[in-house]
Amino acid sequence: MTCALIVLAAGQGSRMNSDLPKVLHPIGAAPLIAHALQAGASLEPEITVVVTGHGAELVEARLAKLDPDVRSVRQTEQLGTAHAVGQAKWALDGFKGDALVLYGDTPFIRPETLDDMRSARQGGADVVVLGFEATDPGRYGRLVTDGDALEKIVEAKDATEAELAISLCNSGVIMADAQALFGLIDAVGNDNAAAEYYLTDIVEIARAKGLSASVVRCDESETLGINTRAELAKAEAAFQARARAAALEDGVTLADPATTYFSLDTFLGRDSEIGPNVVFGPGVTVESGAKIHAFCHLEDCHVSRGSIVGPFARLRPGAELAENTHIGNFVEIKNATIDEGAKVNHLTYIGDAHIGARSNIGAGTVTCNYDGVFKHHTEIGADVFIGSDTMLVAPVTIGDGAMTGSGSVITSDVPEGALAIGRARQENKLGLATRMMAKLKAAKAKTIKRD
Ligand code: UD1
Ligand code: MG
Repeated sequence: MTCALIVLAAGQGSRMNSDLPKVLHPIGAAPLIAHALQAGASLEPEITVVVTGHGAELVEARLAKLDPDVRSVRQTEQLGTAHAVGQAKWALDGFKGDALVLYGDTPFIRPETLDDMRSARQGGADVVVLGFEATDPGRYGRLVTDGDALEKIVEAKDATEAELAISLCNSGVIMADAQALFGLIDAVGNDNAAAEYYLTDIVEIARAKGLSASVVRCDESETLGINTRAELAKAEAAFQARARAAALEDGVTLADPATTYFSLDTFLGRDSEIGPNVVFGPGVTVESGAKIHAFCHLEDCHVSRGSIVGPFARLRPGAELAENTHIGNFVEIKNATIDEGAKVNHLTYIGDAHIGARSNIGAGTVTCNYDGVFKHHTEIGADVFIGSDTMLVAPVTIGDGAMTGSGSVITSDVPEGALAIGRARQENKLGLATRMMAKLKAAKAKTIKRD
């Protein structure tokens, strides 16, 4: 069955106490809204509409980067969840199929759960509501049921004592035929405790029209919504716990799982090995069999099979490591391609560069890529030996098989096979050290006597 996704993201999120719109706060280095979109993506929606409001410009700009096919509609006044869904009506004009309503601040709905909802729709339910047994029902809407049938949803603010005692609560996720849903929403009024247009009212309206409604249940952890920084921190911990378990399940070795930090899009290949205290920022792929030793920070980079990184290495955006490369301690790589078998093992900065296959970069080497205004490229050929403490002042090219003497400042290109030495020539002044030391010691003895 074709499906459209409607994601509500207009709310202020005032309890976050933040200038950033709530749905842009990150979990696993991805905004909450990206998690909601990913959850909904499992239904392969034909159209995705996000309802924006508070901070709409920022949210829409981020959405355009996340997925240019997502449509945004603005809800200029936040008059309630039914009113919010109603804003998607014109974007879905003529759409035939189901609509799934998700919240942008509820990141953990599982694909299996959405599948269950789809099955319930296929089983004949006109409106399907995702419910859960709440340990503390508090402010949640209560699901009033009669056997399997859902009779109505009552918001906590409007509930009777008896209804408040119900622990089966509304997650907010609802599925129905799109056009039927908009029809039901048109009939929703705002005569209630909050003077809001409640999406939840559509259940009672549907039942009154002779339509059926049913509940699909999920675990409370899936419906965790983020309203405060404390809930954001809790959700981050839950996300990390799940990502760690999934990595272990996928055949990744984590030396100390509790200290491995994942992003939503981290990909670790089978039999990769990750040491303690490793942080994966967004956009990281580590291929099968690669090893990341302790205390590494990786972001927007690619580590190919057989490569070894760290301990204490930093791979910044655009670090592209081919197979069997070695990146050692206190090495930073940014926007650079390291070809097969090349080694950068100690105390080095490689930025805006290409290093050819099997080349060895000595300790303390720096690609001096920035002149204060522009960034410049360093090109290092294959089988090159860069001596320790070489400053490669970009733009500069080192030919295949060339060498640089340690301590060199290389400001012009080095031809293939050449040895470049760019430093002051050493002179040995015979006996001078002994004479100088004697002189200094004598001078010190004099000052002590004077004191
Ligand atoms: C809603 C449900 C409640 C459910 C709870 C689950 C209604 C009336 N109530 O209550 O039954 O138990 O979620 O968390 O639906 N939003 C808009 N525009 C608006 C209002 C809300 O986009 O005008 C968005 C919010 O940004 C948020 C979502 O809709 O993502 C839910 O709104 P919120 O105000 O949190 O609803 P609750 O009162 O929590
Ligand atoms: Mg809420």
